[in-house]
Amino acid sequence: MRRLLPSTALLLLVSAGTQAADLTKAVVVLEPPYNRVLTSDSVTLKCQGTDPFGDSSTQWLHNGTLISNQTSYFIKVASVEDSGEYRCRKGLSELSDPVQLEVHVGWLLLWTPRQVFQEGEPIWLKCHSWKNNPVRKVQYFQNGKSKKFSYNNSDFHIPAATSKHSGSYFCRGLIGKKNESSEPVDIIIQGSAVPSTSSLLHWPQIPFSLVMVLLFAVDTGLYFAVQRDLRSSMRGWKNSKVSWKQGP
Ligand SMILES: *[C@@H]1O[C@H](CO)[C@@H](O)[C@H](O)[C@H]1NC(C)=O
Ligand SMILES: *[C@@H]1O[C@H](CO)[C@@H](O)[C@H](O)[C@H]1NC(C)=O
Ligand SMILES: *[C@@H]1O[C@H](CO)[C@@H](O)[C@H](O)[C@H]1NC(C)=O
Repeated sequence: MRRLLPSTALLLLVSAGTQAADLTKAVVVLEPPYNRVLTSDSVTLKCQGTDPFGDSSTQWLHNGTLISNQTSYFIKVASVEDSGEYRCRKGLSELSDPVQLEVHVGWLLLWTPRQVFQEGEPIWLKCHSWKNNPVRKVQYFQNGKSKKFSYNNSDFHIPAATSKHSGSYFCRGLIGKKNESSEPVDIIIQGSAVPSTSSLLHWPQIPFSLVMVLLFAVDTGLYFAVQRDLRSSMRGWKNSKVSWKQGP
């Protein structure tokens, strides 16, 4: 029982260590959640993550240049120049993966939170207009075929995506008297269960079990070393007691 305790403590340390490693990489989150926007749109970029040493400062990089030390980066009126790669960092944490922002010039833009979905996931597409101008008689197209019509612009909702929902999408509608179309966007639906990749995902278990074997060996070694030391010091203590008794 006694020898289990150090192993448990080591295990906790190891798992705390791996968790901290995961937390040190910041993530850029967009609000609204679309990386393609129109000129004049507002976009808030948030930096999610924590610095392991509690440093709450934030750094923002646009195309590699430091642009802000604010917690969030707010683009009030987007222009084409705001396009590019954004990264952030919290304190001394690792720099986030890049998020590519595209600011388009046009009347309509098909909004999709992502371009790649897994089978079974829901999808909401929006026909977003410049400066949120009202759009009427909106149609959504997939591979050139009209899939949805709404008099006043409503979302195109796919409750559970299947492979047949993959394709090129765009929306079209009337802004005032102008008949406008968005640029096409490719949407890809990936199959859910692919055994080869899921078994690939398990490969970190091999080094982890090796680490556990090593830890166990070190721990066992420590245990015997400590026990030996304890025994010899006990012996030493007994001897001194004996010699003290014999002394006077
Ligand atoms: C961010 O802070 C650093 C040091 O505190 C300063 O040198 C830099 O000019 C600041 N950058 C911006 C864009 O505010
Ligand atoms: C939506 O369109 C209908 C006509 O089809 C109209 O009566 C209604 O007021 C519209 N709703 C909004 C919120 O604009
Ligand atoms: C917009 O133009 C297309 C042809 O380019 C036409 O088929 C469609 O009906 C028009 N849409 C509206 C709402 O008038």
